[in-house]
Amino acid sequence: MPSAAPAVPRAIQVGLAGLGNVGAGVFKNIEANRDLIIQRTGADIRIRRIIVRDLARPRDVSVPESLLGTRWQDLTEDPEIQVVVELIGGTTTAYELVCAALKAKKIVVTGNKALLAERGQELFALAEQCGAPIYFEAAVAGGIPIIQVLQEGLVGNRILSIHGIINGTCNYILTRMSQAGLSYADALREAQEKGYAEADPTLDVSGWDAAHKAIILASLSYGFWIPQGCVHVEGVDKIDPADFKFAKRLGYTIKLLSVIRADKDGLVEVRTQPTLVPLSHVLASVSGSFNAVLVHGDIVGETLFYGRGAGQDPTSSSVISDLCEAAATLVYGARHSGFVPHGLYGKSKPVEDTISHYYLRLTVADEPGVLAQVAAELGSRGIGISSMIQPEDLEDTSGQSSLVLMIHDARLGDMLEALAAIRALNCVRGEPSWMRVETLQG
Ligand SMILES: NC(=O)c1ccc[n+]([C@@H]2O[C@H](COP(=O)([O-])OP(=O)(O)OC[C@H]3O[C@@H](n4cnc5c(N)ncnc54)[C@H](OP(=O)(O)O)[C@@H]3O)[C@@H](O)[C@H]2O)c1
Repeated sequence: MPSAAPAVPRAIQVGLAGLGNVGAGVFKNIEANRDLIIQRTGADIRIRRIIVRDLARPRDVSVPESLLGTRWQDLTEDPEIQVVVELIGGTTTAYELVCAALKAKKIVVTGNKALLAERGQELFALAEQCGAPIYFEAAVAGGIPIIQVLQEGLVGNRILSIHGIINGTCNYILTRMSQAGLSYADALREAQEKGYAEADPTLDVSGWDAAHKAIILASLSYGFWIPQGCVHVEGVDKIDPADFKFAKRLGYTIKLLSVIRADKDGLVEVRTQPTLVPLSHVLASVSGSFNAVLVHGDIVGETLFYGRGAGQDPTSSSVISDLCEAAATLVYGARHSGFVPHGLYGKSKPVEDTISHYYLRLTVADEPGVLAQVAAELGSRGIGISSMIQPEDLEDTSGQSSLVLMIHDARLGDMLEALAAIRALNCVRGEPSWMRVETLQG
C-alpha cells in the first residue's frame, strides 16, 4: 500500500461478474465509501462493466443500465479492464471466466470457495504462469479477513492447528437446536425464513461449504493444495435434539467444526464434522450465523477471529479489500499468485488414521450385560471408555434405554470397525449416534 495517497487518484478499471447478493453489495459499498478508499489507498475503483444472467431481473441496487451485459467475455476481452471480480458462483462458467481473465493478464478477485477448493491448484499454477494473481479474501468466513491473517499477519508462524466455525447456516441451525430445543427440520425452516439458509441448503448442511473453506485455509497454512478426497466431511442433518441434552450434561455443546492440523510427522489432517466442544471454551459461545476461526501459531500462540461469515455487507467488505490489494499490485507488482506452495509439508493424513475422542449414544435393550458387550467390541480394538451415562429419565416404556459413552483417543478406522460390530449386537437398536469430541486444550 502507498504510504500516502497520491494527489490524483489512480483509476482502477474493474469488470464485475455477478450482481447478486455479494456483487450488489460490492457496487453499493464502493459507491458509499469511494472517498475513504481513495484517501486511504490512492485508488479510485471504477466498475466499468457488469455481467449478469438475466438483464430483466429487478435489482436491489441502482446501476446504470449502460454498465450491464450478459456476455462474460466482455470482461476478459476489454483491454481497459485490469481486474475481474468473479461473483457468479459455481464451477463451470466461473472457471472459464477466471482462466480467460488470467490468460488476459487481469488480476482476479473471487469469493468462490467451491471453485478454489476444486481447482485451486490448477488456477494458482495458471496465475503464476500468467503473472496475474488471484485474491480470494471473501471465499472464507465472509467479512473476517482470515486469508490476510494467514498470508501476512501470521506469515512467520508454523500453523499448529486451526479450529473454525465457518458456516453460518449450520451454526444458526445448531444454535437453535441447542438453545430452543428445535428439531433439525424446524431449525432449518426457521433459518430459511430468516434468510440464513438457501432454498436448496444442501451445500451448507452437508458440511461441504465449510469443507471447501477448510481446504483453502489448510492449503494456505501447509503450502500444498489439499485434495478434496482427503477431507473428512459430515453434515448436520443427522443430529438428534437428544444429543444436545446429553452433550450438555457432559459439559459440551455441538458445533459444525472444521479442524485443520499437522501431526509431528507433518501429515496434514482436514475435517469438517459436527463435534462436541466444551461449554467452557470460547468457540461454544459463537452463536447464530456468526463465524469464528481459532488459529494456533507456534510463535503467536492462540489467536481468535470472530465476525459475520456471510451476507452482503460483510462479504463485500472482503471483496473491496481485495480490490485495494489489486490496486496496490497494479502500482507495485504482485508479491505472489495468491498461494505460495512450499515443501515443508506435502501429504494429507489418511482419514482413517486421524485420532480423536468420541461421543457415542446408543439405544439399547433395557437388560443386564449390555454395557459389557459394547465395551468388549470397543476394547478388542484398543478403544477405551472414559465415562458413561445411562440417563434414567430417557428410558421409554418399550424396554429400551439410552447409553451414552465418552471414548478416549481412538483411531477413526478402529472406531468405524467397532461401530459396525456394535450395530450388529442384538441388544443395540437403531443407528448409533456418534461424534468427534474436541477438548481444544493447547
Ligand atoms: N452470499 C454470501 O454471503 C457469500 C459469502 C461468501 C462468498 N460468497 C460467494 O460469492 C459468490 C456469489 O454469491 P452470491 O450470494 O452473490 O450469489 P447470487 O446472489 O446467486 O448472485 C449470483 C450473480 O451471478 C449472476 N450469474 C450467475 N450465473 C451467471 C452466468 N452464467 N453468467 C452471468 N451472470 C451469472 C447472477 O445473475 P442474475 O442476477 O441475473 O441471476 C447473479 O447476479 C459465490 O461464489 C458464493 O459462494 C457468497
